[in-house]
Amino acid sequence: MVPWGRSFEEYQAMFGLSEDDLNRRVLGCGPASFNAEATGRGCQITSCDPVYQFEAEEIRRRIDDVYPEIMAKLQQRADNYHWDSLGSVEQLGEVRMRAMSKFLSDFDVGIREGRYVSASLPTLPFPDSGFDLALCSHYLFLYSDHVDGPAHLASMRELCRVATEVRVFPVVSLDGKVSNHLDQIMTALSADGINVSLQPVSYRFQKGATEMLVAKSV
Ligand SMILES: C[S@@+](CC[C@H](N)C(=O)[O-])C[C@H]1O[C@@H](n2cnc3c(N)ncnc32)[C@H](O)[C@@H]1O
Repeated sequence: MVPWGRSFEEYQAMFGLSEDDLNRRVLGCGPASFNAEATGRGCQITSCDPVYQFEAEEIRRRIDDVYPEIMAKLQQRADNYHWDSLGSVEQLGEVRMRAMSKFLSDFDVGIREGRYVSASLPTLPFPDSGFDLALCSHYLFLYSDHVDGPAHLASMRELCRVATEVRVFPVVSLDGKVSNHLDQIMTALSADGINVSLQPVSYRFQKGATEMLVAKSV
């Protein structure tokens, strides 16, 4: 898994975020500019990701190191993505680098303010129901070949413990097919008494990625 961050607008579209959602206590993720931009709008956001254990300069170097490799892979697999809004691989690279630069500029202040918390699923250092909404972008389900079924279930249960509502996008893996873990995770969470559903979102980039998983503790 590589550091690769998305923008506030992308989070809004991936997770169908309304103004009401943004006024809730939200848990975000990754080297994305969502936290920086949402905080700038007065929202109450905390984000967690293992990449936050590193210094801003170390994260910047890692991003610069992996960037050419990611661009080459995207070029090779360009047919797996919709390019209508992002235009081209080069334009996508610019959008991602802009988002990650915003994240990096905000990182030291955000660490001091407790808005960036270094943590790895399936164990999060937050109290039960400390958040109203947790957003998990491009980690669970996407990396189904790297993260096994039990780790997916433990991670979803942990997210449901710390937040009353959890949204995960996408639910397809890197090959664009629905994750082979999805059915069993939805069944297990339902058996736990959690209300689970798949809901369409407006975000379009990876082909096949059109829905988010929503899990609500009732
Ligand atoms: C492709 S990036 C997505 C970043 C961001 N969520 C976004 O969509 O812009 C995958 C992220 O998963 C994070 N990750 C890796 N292992 C993790 C774990 N065990 N728990 C939580 N996040 C993890 C990586 O550090 C990385 O930031």
